[in-house]
Amino acid sequence: MEPLAGGRLLDKHGRIATDLRVSLTDRCSLRCSYCMPPEGLDWLPSASLLTDDEVIRLITIAVRDLGVQQVRFTGGEPLLRKGLARILAATTALRTATGVAPDTALTTNGVGLATSAMALKQAGLHRINVSLDTLDATRYARLTGRDRLGDVIKGLAAAAAAGLSPIKMNTVLLPGVNDDEMLSLVSWALKRGYQPRFIEQMPLGPQDTWQRTTMVTAEDILDVLRSEFTLIPMQSKARGSAPAEIWMVTGAEVPEDFVATVGIIASITKPFCEACNRTRLTADGQLRSCLFSRDETDVRTLLRSGASDLAIAELWRGAMAAKQTTHGVDEGSFVQPDRTMSAIGG
Ligand code: 5AD
Ligand code: SF4
Repeated sequence: MEPLAGGRLLDKHGRIATDLRVSLTDRCSLRCSYCMPPEGLDWLPSASLLTDDEVIRLITIAVRDLGVQQVRFTGGEPLLRKGLARILAATTALRTATGVAPDTALTTNGVGLATSAMALKQAGLHRINVSLDTLDATRYARLTGRDRLGDVIKGLAAAAAAGLSPIKMNTVLLPGVNDDEMLSLVSWALKRGYQPRFIEQMPLGPQDTWQRTTMVTAEDILDVLRSEFTLIPMQSKARGSAPAEIWMVTGAEVPEDFVATVGIIASITKPFCEACNRTRLTADGQLRSCLFSRDETDVRTLLRSGASDLAIAELWRGAMAAKQTTHGVDEGSFVQPDRTMSAIGG
């Protein structure tokens, strides 16, 4: 099949999606309270999950025919996916229109990372984000439902040793749960050469676990960080499509030659929808134009009907053309999507 000339994922508001998020499983080894109920969810039936070859075919179409330049693997917990190394190797063997491998990253809870970091690097993975919300083992067990803090700390170290840097450490702050750890998490991460990033909690977990009035905001976080560190904004006015606002940090203990930064992803208080360049594929083969979409486009059925690459690319373009202007979380009419973050892919 000939590549589509000039194919790209353009929506009717003029945004072009070049960043593909692929959820490889809806399952997870943790039960973070803001994401999943303690008993877990009704997992996707295995017949509906894309096979490794199907995932690879869709990523190939996205990169070769639709202008995708970055691929990020998520879950659930993507390290639970058996074919991960093969999918990574196939992805990093692709070439974008400019002749380079797509920038390939992974977001993990870090639980299985100590034993897999080196294999991930060898499979071609470029960068990694590891979620860590607390440094207190008891709290960690309470917040995630599992006593695995030690594994995550070892996982981070293994990722650094494998050369998967820059290593970003993602934290979601919950009021009254871990919001007293902002400074200690930043100091701890920077000291080890990891880049801390705070993500504002979004209404994508079990119903009623999010409250706009009590959520910890980017402003709250900045106020606390400035009490201890000097923060210098890294970007000029335009944030571009990168959702994190980044500050250079002085006043922290860091390894030699490490540029200390902290990032804040203010998805709620400063939405970046107008610059959004994301397109999403769920583990069961549904295309989503937004984390908060209430509708999806079924590419799995088309794929399994023997469709051509061209037909799949056309479906994808149509799905993205209709992308909503904004997520509208702060609007009265907002309705939470039926899937939680673990089934959409963060
Ligand atoms: N709000 C904000 N971030 C979330 N994550 C999971 N659920 C939510 C939520 N409701 C984060 C995880 C991980 C990343 C994929 O998304 O902590 O770091
Ligand atoms: Fe798992 Fe990530 Fe959800 Fe926590 S936030 S339960 S690690 S998918």
